[in-house]
Amino acid sequence: MLEITLEAAESQGVETELLEITDLNIKPCISCNKCLFKPECNIQDDDMTEIYEKLKRADGILIGSPVYFFNVTGRLKDFMDRSRPLHMTASYLEGKVGGALVHAGLRNGGQELALQIIHNFLLGHGLLLPGNRQGRTPLISTGVMATMSKEYDGKRLSFHKSVEEDKIATASCRHLGHNMALLIKKIGCCSCYTGD
Ligand SMILES: Cc1cc2nc3c(=O)[nH]c(=O)nc-3n(C[C@H](O)[C@H](O)[C@H](O)COP(=O)(O)O)c2cc1C
Repeated sequence: MLEITLEAAESQGVETELLEITDLNIKPCISCNKCLFKPECNIQDDDMTEIYEKLKRADGILIGSPVYFFNVTGRLKDFMDRSRPLHMTASYLEGKVGGALVHAGLRNGGQELALQIIHNFLLGHGLLLPGNRQGRTPLISTGVMATMSKEYDGKRLSFHKSVEEDKIATASCRHLGHNMALLIKKIGCCSCYTGD
């Protein structure tokens, strides 16, 4: 879903980079509260140091998660908590363009709540969120949410082999990527961050 969304954004002429949180070392927040006074984190020996710089330089931030117990994954939550130095004493992500997407095993397996959690995270940092309706096409979904569920025959639930088989979700991804790129171009965005 992330790849589909980023491809749609790229087709509008923006550059993208995909980071897999599972490939990164992100330690949990230890609640030392250093970031209440300085835009810094006490934990300096993991991958967040580099991610802070990438987030500051990005014009748009798209976050995706599978649904685990009606929520985002624990790994994503650690990332969210560790982003606190970016908004306590300065609002580094304010005015950037945000987007979120989720997928879950069940058809109504907590996608709406998980999506809301990511949206609230992005809004809390001051990002601007475009919708996923594109042009004059019909409204197909309010929010980008996929399910792996395919059919239920009264005894067994069967599942898609790939999330790509959920056509509403994949179309929603394309629309979101398109809309994020358009909004970034309209705002003329924040690449002005120079590292100070
Ligand atoms: C720990 C755990 C919790 C899950 N909780 C839910 C859930 O609350 N609702 C749901 O529909 N699916 C749930 N699932 C299913 C996943 O959302 C689904 O299998 C998803 O495709 C997993 O993506 P991943 O392989 O990228 O982790 C859960 C899966 C795991 C491993």
